[in-house]
Amino acid sequence: MNHLKQRLRRLPGFVVHAVLCVVIAAQAVSCCGDCQEVDSVRKERTEDFGMVFNKIGVIRSPYSAEKSAPRQGKLAPNVESLIVMNPEYEAGLKDIETFSHIMVFYVFDRSSGWNPLVQTPWEQERHGVFATRSPRRPNPIGMTVVKLVRRSGSTLHVQGLDAFDGSPVIDLKPYIPQFDGVEDANQGWLGDGN
Ligand SMILES: C[S@@+](CC[C@H](N)C(=O)[O-])C[C@H]1O[C@@H](n2cnc3c(N)ncnc32)[C@H](O)[C@@H]1O
Repeated sequence: MNHLKQRLRRLPGFVVHAVLCVVIAAQAVSCCGDCQEVDSVRKERTEDFGMVFNKIGVIRSPYSAEKSAPRQGKLAPNVESLIVMNPEYEAGLKDIETFSHIMVFYVFDRSSGWNPLVQTPWEQERHGVFATRSPRRPNPIGMTVVKLVRRSGSTLHVQGLDAFDGSPVIDLKPYIPQFDGVEDANQGWLGDGN
């Protein structure tokens, strides 16, 4: 080892530097298999824990935990609410007013916890949380199709929303009958009577 060190000392600096570069590059290439493993773990972690959704706006509605909201917006079709988008998203609203209806994705920010089986207002029998529209769910996301009355800058005036005042908005999409209207859909466990 000492012998090697003495020899290296005698070499010009740039040669030592070049040798070190080659050694480091070779190590990087040889760890590629491990790197792939690290990448896939990182990807898995990102998929499991790294989903960060930004609040892009807020709902202004006449409803609150005290002044209850309809179970579905469709049950109060004429009640007007506002979707106040953060100003930086105004450009992203271009042409949204060409649609009569939009889908509003919001957060049930005042619900807590969830159970795999849920008792609904419709019947005694419990149903799986994913077979219901319960606000208490693993990811507390609500989605309502609303009528878009008009847009004023970054504020949308809508009818038929069922969210509490102050609910964070995480996405908006146009409701497109050609894509979203399903003619042969059934009522599931709700049956045709509801
Ligand atoms: C049954 S959920 C249906 C929501 C949406 N249409 C859906 O299907 O995802 C509607 C109920 O959620 C509750 N809710 C609305 N906004 C909420 C909020 N920000 N936090 C917690 N619960 C909320 C109200 O009780 C309302 O009646």
